[in-house]
Amino acid sequence: MIRTESLNPDKIREGLQTRHIGSQVVVFDSTSSTNDLAAQYGRNPDNHGLAIFAEQQEAGRGRAGHRWLSPPGAGILCSIVLIDSPLRSELLSLTAAVALAEAIGGGARIKWPNDILLNGKKVSGILLDASVCDTHRIHCLGIGINCHQGRDDFPESLRDSATSLDIETGLRVDRVVLAKRLLAALDLWMERAASDEAAVVQQWQQASLQLAHRVTLCFNGERFTGNCIGVDPQHGLILQLDHGGVRMFEAAHSSIVKE
Ligand code: BTN
Repeated sequence: MIRTESLNPDKIREGLQTRHIGSQVVVFDSTSSTNDLAAQYGRNPDNHGLAIFAEQQEAGRGRAGHRWLSPPGAGILCSIVLIDSPLRSELLSLTAAVALAEAIGGGARIKWPNDILLNGKKVSGILLDASVCDTHRIHCLGIGINCHQGRDDFPESLRDSATSLDIETGLRVDRVVLAKRLLAALDLWMERAASDEAAVVQQWQQASLQLAHRVTLCFNGERFTGNCIGVDPQHGLILQLDHGGVRMFEAAHSSIVKE
């Protein structure tokens, strides 16, 4: 059992000067998945920017059908409700990764599309769900950050590839401070992305683990290998393919795999 400070919505909101993201904050002790809650809250367009946190998830979801496991109180488990975002999904995904890496700091790097790594190990991930209802479009931007886990808190299969902020910094991270930083960074980068896609691409280039490296992708079940020459804010990762030609790969249908 991890002893931990609790997340408190008033403390998270205190002094937070964001235009949209985190304009409302709710914290649940336990839920199935904050992304599922976000989809429900998103039916009401007044909930744009709502940040939903949970201390525990019974059915936390990751990308590609994976589970997201986190002991109670050990991490940031958060979903942001976005209504009629001016950013298309690809740019939203890229912008969220850039903002998350900035909020985590400490040399955090982006493994395209949505993993954040510290010292080569995954500390955080993003799950972006999209849906439509009668009156508007809804994006649920789900973010998990490992904070207080020790090595033994990860399943054995993940011990070599996953980490937490406490492990990497040797300090006990303050989750309230981190939550504020996360909301502020998301607000800033989403605002910026709406008028300056190039700024997002430039920031991604600085934090990217893939740029100028060989990458093998699984895209819609097919494998592609090539040199990563950039990212396109509308069409995804750009590879100069080994078999010739340049091709772009959308985040929603791609995962990086071992060659
Ligand atoms: C991944 O790396 O595969 C994405 C992980 C996303 C996990 C977060 S935790 C909060 C939100 N609720 C979920 O069920 N998933 C996301």
